[in-house]
Amino acid sequence: MKAAARMDRLPRHFFSTLVQKAAALNKAGFDVIDLGRGSPDLATPPHIIQALHEAAQNPLYHRYSPFEGYPEIREGISTWYAQKRGVTIDPDLEVSILFGSKVGLVEVALCLLEPGDVCLVPDPGYPDYLSGIALAAAEAYPMPLLATHDYLPDFEAIPEDVLKRAKLMFLNYPGNPTAALAPRAFYERAIRVAKKHDIIIAHDYAYGALGFDGRRPVSFLELEGAKEVGIEFYSLSKTYSMSGWRVGFALGNPDVVGLINKLQNHFFANIPPAIQMMAAQALVGPQDCVDEMVQVYETRRNVFLQGLTQIGWKADPPGGTFFAWLPIPEKMTSQDYTDLLLEQAHIVVAPGTGFGVHGEGYVRVGLLHEIPRLMEAVERIRKLKIWE
Ligand SMILES: Cc1ncc(COP(=O)(O)O)c(C=O)c1O
Repeated sequence: MKAAARMDRLPRHFFSTLVQKAAALNKAGFDVIDLGRGSPDLATPPHIIQALHEAAQNPLYHRYSPFEGYPEIREGISTWYAQKRGVTIDPDLEVSILFGSKVGLVEVALCLLEPGDVCLVPDPGYPDYLSGIALAAAEAYPMPLLATHDYLPDFEAIPEDVLKRAKLMFLNYPGNPTAALAPRAFYERAIRVAKKHDIIIAHDYAYGALGFDGRRPVSFLELEGAKEVGIEFYSLSKTYSMSGWRVGFALGNPDVVGLINKLQNHFFANIPPAIQMMAAQALVGPQDCVDEMVQVYETRRNVFLQGLTQIGWKADPPGGTFFAWLPIPEKMTSQDYTDLLLEQAHIVVAPGTGFGVHGEGYVRVGLLHEIPRLMEAVERIRKLKIWE
């Protein structure tokens, strides 16, 4: 059998390698602390699970969904944006329901990119941006995100001929892996660049609910002119600890949303109806669970970073997400340091270079364990005496 060439263009999935490494050590009987992955460890709040139970009893929801989903979920996300972000979203024309936002990141590239087109991507950035670009036989142009520039891309540094060929630009704040937030002025600059060069912006807002120290992460759609040039991806995975239920959205520019819906209609008849009802309840039901969750992650961040400081590992506190983006010892590569932690402390972290060449010099740690387990990781690292 000869696979289609597009399959060769797809890179091996970075996170699958990490998972395998951790699993192999576990199987060998070691007590591995996995700080490498980004799947929330908290349970979906009970009132949301209750909504799923109720919907599952209703035979109406045992059938195929309407292609573009039930009105309840589309109206739910529109209500959420109006109440939480002051953004008006037309539930019929400006919402696409996704099988997790991950799928939409690939679909938007398939909808907009021709072979040879350029797509601007953050580096370091979430690896899945590259998947759709590869399938479309387009070219990824990395925009370096550096600590010295607050992990924001410098649009001035992108060559004019690249901007001319660019059709799509991925942005992601709060950022994975950098955990940085972006100010409104940054989105204004991005919108100006997009208008001038006819580029569609795809803002990945998967961590939109996860800002710390009282900061509320800005939604791209809050900015004037945003809908003319782009869409935002939102996800219930992080906000309501619903990663296993697979619910995300593409919102904003009706033409781009329409293309995603058109493509999806060839792949699926939407996500399972009972899960749509569950998602609607998550969006319009009580929201104290979200404040409580942010508090849990913020406390973990504080305690973990304090622990690192005590053993001599200095890092800036993340502004949001549930990740910490940590500088590694000088004269080591991020892969060497990752291997060292795995082999000598049985701790899995994600090497910065898994997110792009500008991730060199860092590792990403997921704060997705209870505090005693995170402190056990700190203690194991202390014993290595690297940071003394
Ligand atoms: C930056 C970013 N975007 C998108 C996703 C995908 O989330 P989901 O497909 O669960 O909505 C993730 C998941 O980890 C992520 O970190």
